[in-house]
Order: sequence, then structure tokens, then C-alpha cells
Amino acid sequence: MISCQIFGNPIETGAVVDEEHLVSYEKVSEESLPETRLFSYELDQKDIVYGLGETMGGINKRGKSYVSYNTDDPHHRQSMPSMYGAHNFFIIDGKEPKGVFVDSPARVTFHVDVNHSGVVEVIVESADVKLYTISGDGAYDITRQFLNIIGRSFIPPLWAFGYGQSRWGYKNHKDIDKVVAEYKKVDIPLDYICLDIDYMDRYIDFTINEKRFPNMKEYVEEKKKEGIHLVPIIDAGVKVEPGNETYEVGISNGYFATNEEGGPFHAAVWPGMTHFPDFFQSATREWFGSEYHKLTDLGFEGFWNDMNEPSIFYSEYSHKQNKIDQILDFLMPSRAEKKEGSKNNSYHDYKHFYHMVEGKRRNHHDVHNLFGGLMIRASGEGLSKLLNKRYLLFARSSYIGAHRYGGIWTGDNHSSFEMLQQNLSHMASLNMCGFLYSGADTGGFGGNCSRELLLRWLAFSDFTPLMRNHSALGTKKQECYRYDQPEDFKRIIALRYRLLPYLYSEFMKAALNKDMYMKPLGFIYPNDEKARACEDQLLVGEGIMIAPILEEGRTKRKVYLPEEMIGVRFDGDHFAEKKFAAGEIEIDVPLNEVVFFIRKDHKVCIANKLVKSTKDLNLRDVKYLGYDVEYEQYKDDGESKL
Ligand code: GLC
Repeated sequence: MISCQIFGNPIETGAVVDEEHLVSYEKVSEESLPETRLFSYELDQKDIVYGLGETMGGINKRGKSYVSYNTDDPHHRQSMPSMYGAHNFFIIDGKEPKGVFVDSPARVTFHVDVNHSGVVEVIVESADVKLYTISGDGAYDITRQFLNIIGRSFIPPLWAFGYGQSRWGYKNHKDIDKVVAEYKKVDIPLDYICLDIDYMDRYIDFTINEKRFPNMKEYVEEKKKEGIHLVPIIDAGVKVEPGNETYEVGISNGYFATNEEGGPFHAAVWPGMTHFPDFFQSATREWFGSEYHKLTDLGFEGFWNDMNEPSIFYSEYSHKQNKIDQILDFLMPSRAEKKEGSKNNSYHDYKHFYHMVEGKRRNHHDVHNLFGGLMIRASGEGLSKLLNKRYLLFARSSYIGAHRYGGIWTGDNHSSFEMLQQNLSHMASLNMCGFLYSGADTGGFGGNCSRELLLRWLAFSDFTPLMRNHSALGTKKQECYRYDQPEDFKRIIALRYRLLPYLYSEFMKAALNKDMYMKPLGFIYPNDEKARACEDQLLVGEGIMIAPILEEGRTKRKVYLPEEMIGVRFDGDHFAEKKFAAGEIEIDVPLNEVVFFIRKDHKVCIANKLVKSTKDLNLRDVKYLGYDVEYEQYKDDGESKL
């Protein structure tokens, strides 16, 4: 059962679509709330708090405070209260399980059993807010009710489930050709390469640097024939420059967010001074979405959206010193750790710009958390009109609701085992909020990735819908072929491609049925205390449980089996199966192998042949692993709109 209490006059965030009229609404007050405690709850000792999407911490969110205030802070650490997304949905899973969704685009703080207080508190900042509460039969049932009212998750084309290589620093077609050739040489499958900001003319959205990519249209086509899609980045800020068509059209139609004086707001990002499209206006969204034709006309079918918190280096109201500070912080992470103010955006800047929201001029700060998600919506709606098939889109900043238009990645993590663990917890909480198509920068964005870390991380990313290796300028190059014995990397990535018929089928079923693709163990085994407490294993689709190696220097790990399961060991070629009784076991996992488990009375379809890219994948040419039961495989052409 879902009820919604309405306080004041909340703006329509678009998070809830409730097509089936499942929610009962109640207007509580005409007045907006002052900064106040919207919700509080006393926890039992054994209650688990699940959710909150893209926040640091484990699957169980107890013991920390979290602040929804979308932030570009590239120094990911356990103490950071905010990341790039605002996903205000959580579940208290105890005797009377309860789901809570705080629908507000303003800042919201969640204190979850901080210092063992035993209390969950939600503080909203001067907000007009909708408070949804959901009761049901456990965490999984409540999540499915929530997924039902927020609408169907984004569905990308099949090729978006392949392996993708990316790096900030690929400058021209020669760099890209080299990546393709080197992957071919070591015979590792590859489906797409991301183009970071250097493909553009001076970082100007919807342009191409023609010196670097002289015949982009032919080039995109040529790569597609080789089974490689090119996926360019689009940033939130439009460069202020007469002659930049996007800028000129934006200015003459009033499509940009405004400053104190009512003119367009100036903020510096990668291209220098930019204006931000006022994504709150439907005309702006339609225009920005249609701008993609400049790239879809060249044959591109996939994109990533970045800097959409929005990230601001400095604005017309702040000082350039911010930028110098950030560069120093990036080069010296320990310097950034010491202060909380190292973010690429500031409260101060946000206080000085405005949007037209439902016909009223509103300060950015009050609607901040919605900005990034509305960029995803603008991009997704535009692409859906422009392409006669599915598109790939993943973005950095988001709000619930944006999951219907695109996926997300979890931003600028770094090369450490701690971040790999975080990736696992994120997958559980993001799935709860509808962001099924998600993943992290595999190998880590900042810092230097060791061979061991990349192999272990790939072995986990084998199961995440977005499987992209991405790294930052200035870090050690992270493509698989640069490491010793690339055949080990091939073995790990081969598993992804062999498993794709199952992974794709399970993703599609989850999306189409408004269900989760990855789940914490406690969702399926709610009466099993050990399963509920498990923080380092996940369920993937209906049939698979994974227990990846998440610690450095380990070649063994303990695995908890809540029921009898078949363990599958993949050595790059063969799948060896072995049955295990329920309970705790220890497994050996050499660096070049992957072990996963098939749940009792389930089976998994795998591709008979290893392909070089999904272009050659035949979803119908499969065999089975696991128990002797029926499996209904979802199959389609991988690209038609649904
Ligand atoms: C941001 C993005 C990162 C990208 C970089 C340059 O830091 O999060 O993925 O590589 O900008 O565009």
C-alpha cells in the first residue's frame, strides 16, 4: 500500500508517474514546511535500512548521515555525505517493513542510526514536499511497489551490454584506431569506445574537432562495421561564443538559466564561460534534445552526459581561485581529504542563478537536485525522436525519474579495492531506485590501476549492465592490453560475452516487469539472518549469485550459500559445475578465473560461441548451465524500440 502526504505546494519532479493509480494522496498542509524533521523512526536492533541510491557506504545504510545535494567531488571517500545523484528512497526492513520516498528537489538530509542513536531522521530544507510511504511484505515487495509507481527503467540496445573502453585523453582518430587494433591483437571482445571532451572543438557541445577527426561520419560508419560504436560525451554547459550556433539559438530564445539581473548566468566549466540550459522549461528540453541531431546525423547512437550537477569551476559571482584550488586538489588528493570544500560547485554559485519552474522564477538552490536528471530527460527524449531505434545514454548526475530516460555511472572513483566494494553496494541501492543500467568506472578513474585490481574489478563488472573501463588524464593507462599476460583479461571478459544471453534476458525481464536486476541477498532470503547481513555478495537476475573477490592479495574467499547452489568456475573456455550444500564454504579464485553460483532450481543460458562484439552474438545459439528446469529466455533484435 502506498500513501502520499503533500506539504505546501511541491513542484512536479516527474519522479512518480503512477500510471496504475496505486497511490492514495492526502494534502496535509497549505504551508510549506520550514527546515524541519519530516520523518523519524526508532529502529530495532536487527532492522536493516536499505536504499538511498548513489550514496557512500554499504548495502545496509545504518551508521551514517547522507545529504541529497548533487555534488561533483572527485575524492570519493566514506565520509562524504553527497555524491552526484539524489535518490531519496529507502526501506526500513524490520517487523513492519516500511518504504519512504521523499520527493523534493531541494536539499534533504538522512540521519540513519548515527552513533548508534537507533533513529532514522529525515530533515528537509525549506521544502514543499511529497512524502510517500509504502508498506508491504518485506523489502523486495516494497521496492517492486516503488518501481511500479516511478515507471519503467531505460532500456538501451544490446551493444550497450558489451565491453566498453574509455579514457580521458584519447585525442584523435589515430588514438581510437590504436585502441581498436590493440584489442584485436590480444583478441579481447570490444563493443564501444567513449569519446571524452577532446573530440569536440574546444569542448563546445555538439561540435567536432575536424583536425582530430577529419571525416567523422565515415569514421563512425567504418568503426560500426568493425563492431565498435563510438560514444561521445555531452556536457551541461554551452560555451558562450558568438558563432556557436547552440549558444546563439539558446540566447535568442531565452533557453538559458538566468542570473540575479535576469540575464543569462555565466559559469566556467571545461570550455571556459558557459550558460546552462534551463532544463526546467519544456521548450529548452525539446531544443537541447533536438541539438543531438548534429551528432546522430553523423551516425552516433550512444552518448554520455557529464558535469550536470551542474559542476561549476567558478561563476560570475565567485573567484577563479576555486579552479586553481581544484587542480591542486586533483593532483594532491590528501590535500582535498583535509577539507570538505573541494567540490567543483558551490552553494554560493547556486544561490545566484535561476530557473523558470512551472511559470515562476526560482532560485537554483531550491531545485538543485533536479537539474541533472532533467538534462537526462531532455537528451533521452531528443534521442528517442531522432533515432528510429534504442539509444545508449548514461549520465553522472540524476534524480529518480531520470531512470526512465537513461542510465548512470557513479562518477570519478579511484583505483582501489575500497571503490570496487563500493561499486557492489551501489548496484544494490541503484537498482532499488530504478537505475538498472548502471556501473562504475571499472579499474577506477583517478589513480593508477594495478593488474590485480583491474582483473578483479572486471570480474565484478562482468555482471553490471554498464561495463566500461574509464580512467583520468594523467593516470597510468588502463586498457587491458597494456598489462602483462593479456590472455588473463581475455578470459575474464570472455565470461561477460558468454553470459550475455542470460544477462541481457534478465535485464530485459527486470526492466519490462519493473523489477530489480541486481538484488541484495536479504531481498530473496528475508528470514535468513546471515543472508540479510551479507554485504559482499549479490543476486544477478533470477538465477545467479555472485561472490566476487573484493580484497587485495586474496585468492580465496568465504561464500555464504543461503540454499543449495551449483558453483560455476569459468577458466576462459570451460564451465565447470559443482554442487554445494547450503552454508558457508571457502572457494579458490585465481586471478584469471571467475566463480559464480546458480541458485537451486534455476538455470542459466550461455552463448555457445565467444564473439568479438555483440554484432556477431546470436542470442538463440545457447546452451545451459545449472539445474534441469525450464528457463524462459527473453530474446529480441536488441535494437527496436519497446
Ligand atoms: C569528469 C567526468 C569524467 C571525464 C572528465 C573529462 O570528471 O566525470 O568521466 O573523463 O570529466 O570530461
